[in-house]
Amino acid sequence: MTPTIALLLIITFLLSTVGLLVLIWSISTNQFSNSQNAARTIFTPGEEGHSEDPAREDTSAYKGDSKAAKEAFTARRVQDQSSKPAVLIWLSSAVFWLLIGSFYGLLASIKMHYPEFMADSQWWTFGRIRPMHLNAVVYGWSSMAGIGAVLFLVPRLFKTPLRGTPYAVTGAIIWNIGVILGLGAINFGLSDGQEWLEFPWQVDFLFVLGGALCAVPLLLTCARRTVEHLYVSSWYFLAALVWFPFLFFIANVPKVFPGATGATVNWWFAHNVLGLWVTPLGIGIAYYIIPKILGRPIISYKLSLIGFWSLALFYSQVGIHHLIGGPIPTWLVTLSIVHSVMMSIPVITVAINHHGTMWGSFGRIKESPTLRFVWIGALMYTATSLQGSLMALRSVNVITHFTHYTIAHAHLGMYAFLSFILFGAIYFIMPRLTDREWPWRRMISLHFWLVAIGILIYFVSLTTAGWLQGLALLDAKTPFLEIVQMTIPYLQARSLGGGLMVAGHIVFVVHFIFMLSRRGAMTQGPTLFRVRTKEISQ
Ligand code: HEM
Ligand code: HEM
Repeated sequence: MTPTIALLLIITFLLSTVGLLVLIWSISTNQFSNSQNAARTIFTPGEEGHSEDPAREDTSAYKGDSKAAKEAFTARRVQDQSSKPAVLIWLSSAVFWLLIGSFYGLLASIKMHYPEFMADSQWWTFGRIRPMHLNAVVYGWSSMAGIGAVLFLVPRLFKTPLRGTPYAVTGAIIWNIGVILGLGAINFGLSDGQEWLEFPWQVDFLFVLGGALCAVPLLLTCARRTVEHLYVSSWYFLAALVWFPFLFFIANVPKVFPGATGATVNWWFAHNVLGLWVTPLGIGIAYYIIPKILGRPIISYKLSLIGFWSLALFYSQVGIHHLIGGPIPTWLVTLSIVHSVMMSIPVITVAINHHGTMWGSFGRIKESPTLRFVWIGALMYTATSLQGSLMALRSVNVITHFTHYTIAHAHLGMYAFLSFILFGAIYFIMPRLTDREWPWRRMISLHFWLVAIGILIYFVSLTTAGWLQGLALLDAKTPFLEIVQMTIPYLQARSLGGGLMVAGHIVFVVHFIFMLSRRGAMTQGPTLFRVRTKEISQ
């Protein structure tokens, strides 16, 4: 065993021990037994039964009917404003990377059915623009928007202003430098050559540093919290912010994992980035926003905690389902398949809470942009994960592996689930930071329909193409080129869907810039898809 592997094993052991201690602490401090009352932690006194959708306090239908309630509202405003510089820099950067990243995605898509397109220049070859797309949307858009949303929600969850904001601002600057250098390196043809880990390792430490700097304000704010109980979203956020730097650091240590070991670590990391980084961010945001907009606590608080701990237990071992059939020990693959199926436990608990809380209030997605994006995102989380558990079965994976089916699943997760929740969160957060409502309801509507129709076309076309492709590849008599030609109309449909998504992003970014520059027309009330006539109460 090399000293480096021994060191990594020691770090892993210490991390597991810390996890166990946190579990013991949470049991001993009754974090599990606060029951349904704990689900009410996110409301100010008297707020339950009132929606928080009207964005600004002064346009809100409910402003508190007692002194304590009014004070809590004022305190919440102070909490919202405390994170403003940090949240704005993380979110603005994310929105920028969304545009760049999806532009590269569209280019990569066009090249798959029109290979001559921009083929004369090394800067635009598929081998460079595909990883540029992936890394820009994962580390630029998804991670930065997720961190921005967490920085906004943490002071609300802990009911105290954000401490250590400069750490988060510095973290954003370092992270952005990392994305710029990483994408630049790939564009110059310099890459570590492993999917999801393409950024050269020399650049990677910037992400570890940027991520760790963001964890500082969260931990400082947690230490000064005025709530005794940690609401379930806090668990997801704190865990993700601690998990990410470790995962990223371990997977990027250079020259330690050669050959098949390297592939194992590569996919251990890649699915942990999905399961222990972006997924907790998405689920945690939905756990906060859905009840706040409905004015109703989640239906089973105990179940929500079971969901968190079972995610922590099962997700960390699923990554090797990416290597089914690969040259690695069978027991390792089987272990990951078992864990992939066991993932249905956290997934179902989250589904019961997210959709059960919505029960009877589905009509609210007609009016609230935030709720529409967030709830559809939550629904797609259920769909992606159940689909993923099936895809991990050997009998299904033998068809879907190495096909467009996986890409469809990837976008169902990273886009229809995660990005939708992030869009919803940004619609919720920006008015509370800028004291302005979104200027144009029609732009939000246009954004929604473009991306919703776009991802639908994307998903359906690639799922069909991938399944047919997988079946054909298993038939040794079918010539490979015939299979490639068969998929072309579906790939063209994907470019159409992707084009709509990019158009939706342009609409969103323009609206975001107006919101940032406070140049948009002020609406009289909150910007909903349609104006609500009466306040909804439980
Ligand atoms: C229970 C949960 C899940 C399970 C068991 C699961 C399982 C799988 C499987 C078996 C694959 C295909 C591996 C292959 O044949 O190459 C896959 C790919 C993928 N999944 Fe999931 N999935 C789950 C949830 C999610 C979620 C929530 C997301 C998004 C946030 C997601 C994003 C992806 C991506 C991006 C890929 C493609 C990775 C790549 O090839 O680069 N999955 N998943
Ligand atoms: C925020 C938006 C998006 C996210 C988070 C996202 C995420 C991803 C991910 C995780 C992968 C790797 C999948 C895998 O290896 O299994 C990927 C690949 C890809 N994405 Fe996206 N994507 C987004 C938008 C788009 C758009 C708008 C298009 C336009 C058509 C697009 C086209 C592609 C293409 C062509 C690939 C490579 C597929 C392949 O190699 O077969 N993506 N994307």
